[in-house]
Amino acid sequence: MKLMTLDEKIGQMVLYTSDWDLTGPTMRAGYIDDIRKGNCGNVFNAQTAAYVRKLQKIAVEETRLHIPLLFGYDVIHGYKTTFPIPLGEAASWDMSLIEQSARVSATEAAAAGLNWTFAPMCDISVEPRWGRVSEGAGEDPFLGSRIAEARVHGFQGKNLSDLADTLTILACVKHYAAYGAPVAGRDYNTVDMSERVFRDVYLPPYAAAIKAGAMSVMSSFNELNGMPATCNKWLMTDILRGELSFKGFVVTDYNSIQELMNHGVAATESDAAALSANAGIDMDMQSTYYQKHLKELVKQGVVSEKTIDDAVRRILRVKFMLGLFDDPYRYCNEAREKRLEGAPAHLEAACEVAKHSLVLLKNENNALPLKKGEKLVVIGELANSANNLLGSWRAAGDSKMATTILDELRTYNGSQNVIYSEGCKKMGEDRGGFNAALAAARHADKIVMVIGEDCDWTGEAASRTDIRVPGVQTELLEKLKTLNKPVVVVLMNGRPLDLSREDKLADAILEVWFPGTKGGKAITDVLFGEYNPSGKLPITFPRCLGQVPIYYYTKNTGRPIYLSDPKYKSRYLDCPNDPLYPFGYGLSYTTFSYSNISLSGTALKSHGSLKATVTVTNTGKCDGEEVVQLYTRQLVGSVTRPVKELKGFNKIALKAGESKTVTFTVTPDMLAFHRADMSYGTEPGKFQLFIGGNSRDVKQASFTLN
Ligand code: GLC
Repeated sequence: MKLMTLDEKIGQMVLYTSDWDLTGPTMRAGYIDDIRKGNCGNVFNAQTAAYVRKLQKIAVEETRLHIPLLFGYDVIHGYKTTFPIPLGEAASWDMSLIEQSARVSATEAAAAGLNWTFAPMCDISVEPRWGRVSEGAGEDPFLGSRIAEARVHGFQGKNLSDLADTLTILACVKHYAAYGAPVAGRDYNTVDMSERVFRDVYLPPYAAAIKAGAMSVMSSFNELNGMPATCNKWLMTDILRGELSFKGFVVTDYNSIQELMNHGVAATESDAAALSANAGIDMDMQSTYYQKHLKELVKQGVVSEKTIDDAVRRILRVKFMLGLFDDPYRYCNEAREKRLEGAPAHLEAACEVAKHSLVLLKNENNALPLKKGEKLVVIGELANSANNLLGSWRAAGDSKMATTILDELRTYNGSQNVIYSEGCKKMGEDRGGFNAALAAARHADKIVMVIGEDCDWTGEAASRTDIRVPGVQTELLEKLKTLNKPVVVVLMNGRPLDLSREDKLADAILEVWFPGTKGGKAITDVLFGEYNPSGKLPITFPRCLGQVPIYYYTKNTGRPIYLSDPKYKSRYLDCPNDPLYPFGYGLSYTTFSYSNISLSGTALKSHGSLKATVTVTNTGKCDGEEVVQLYTRQLVGSVTRPVKELKGFNKIALKAGESKTVTFTVTPDMLAFHRADMSYGTEPGKFQLFIGGNSRDVKQASFTLN
């Protein structure tokens, strides 16, 4: 630091794109000069070890202080090998698989020269209209926190010393904060919520990721309660560094310092740069305002040199932790890159994660599993699309590595037993293919219709006002239903959809999200019972958009639905209150029964613990897995309390007929929340405790917290 000029310090606070995704490995004059002059200390979107080495060489050999570059990239759910979208992975409720997915992603990215991913996205969301709900872990702070921890450990390793490993990369907790709650579900829109909801629901996953060791955070585009995150000192300094003791650095999201002028909190570029720097933003992604204005702002005393030094120290510390000062080329190893990109073991892991992410939403009339040799007609554009399997945030993912659902069904069941007819596009109103699909279906024993969204209708800047299956896909499903053959719907989507029509028409519905490179194989294995589906919804599926926002941790209100009064209570005239499929819901090819809960006591002392035990039995004919979920409810509080809150889960495997006891240990700290005076802690009183295979069908017990 003592050696550095102010210009060189500010250069470390700058992150520019290499434009590789648009232009390939050009050496675009502009930012190459910036690197050479020490005005750009960090690059994103560069790919391949060779290109990274080229850029790193400029920084290390041609700048005065030879400070190595950070290389960031959106490794969201895989690098070359693509895993299911994060919402799909969340549906696995399997933390070791989620960690493994992040580890494989980190390995492939690091082998390509990268040392920083812009993940995990930890934004809680109850907004199916919002396209980026696909990128998160759903609606729940407890599940979201466990997943955030798993992803950070997967990317960085379990200890900060692991960051120096050439196959781990720096994680980036995003989008801090509360980006997942935009008004009306419209991306980048205003976020406004009480501090209590922010602290009890939206903050915990970010905090968990930081506690797990994440060493970078990305500020979000949105304002929170009137103050844009990119200049929000309460978020970036008071909470992040004060309360959470975050020691890493904060980078903005793309160009969001410039956007402070659109938000209307900065009149000039210089004001925007000053607001961000003084709020605690360390690095400017792409706006150029730090490069253009910080030096002058320091001269004017608007931004102190200490602020600059603090930011630069945080960034350099991470570069040291990554081992870049020991060997700036440690991530550039073309042989390792060739060996690891798309390695067979990685594809196998992607298939395993995909299988565990699939959620069986309905299965009647023995529609599933399919029997080998059955005559199938497969219908739908998505059945024949490798590209859509990868989802919209595949970034470096290569759809040429993916096999379609149709290909995999034919490989498994024999081409002679699988007729394909596109039927209709996933979007649009063209019904021209209906007759051909109906004709093909007449020769089949069963109909497998793959419907859903175009993957680019999910993700960033992809909000929808209508969350039904797009186009005329369901219209075709209705016509196919008239053939009186079993209809299996395979659903590819990146958000909760309104499936009220499909739920009535289909005999079976398998939610597959966008399942990644090996999604076709995973779906085939589940459809034919090679793997018994075990996924559970990480987010509520509403009956219709009119119910949104709808989530399981709702409040009882003063007029709960169970009141005897037929009219004056919290309800709709035209729709039940409950969702179509609740949080935590998912079926299996087998069935599970739960014993009543046995509690080790009925009084939980303030420094004690309680054990809650159930016996779960596989009462069906095939082996399976069950996610046993624990919820609690505080009956009376200094403020109103949710009717349920997830406090634990345990995914267990049970052979047909096998029983296992599952015990949860309940401790007072699990019951803490932000009380009426906004202090964080517990309150004595009566509690209910629930255990079950989803948030609705549960066994119940009671205890008192002293
Ligand atoms: C995008 C996204 C963010 C991503 C960044 C870099 O706009 O909001 O999630 O990491 O820019 O690509």
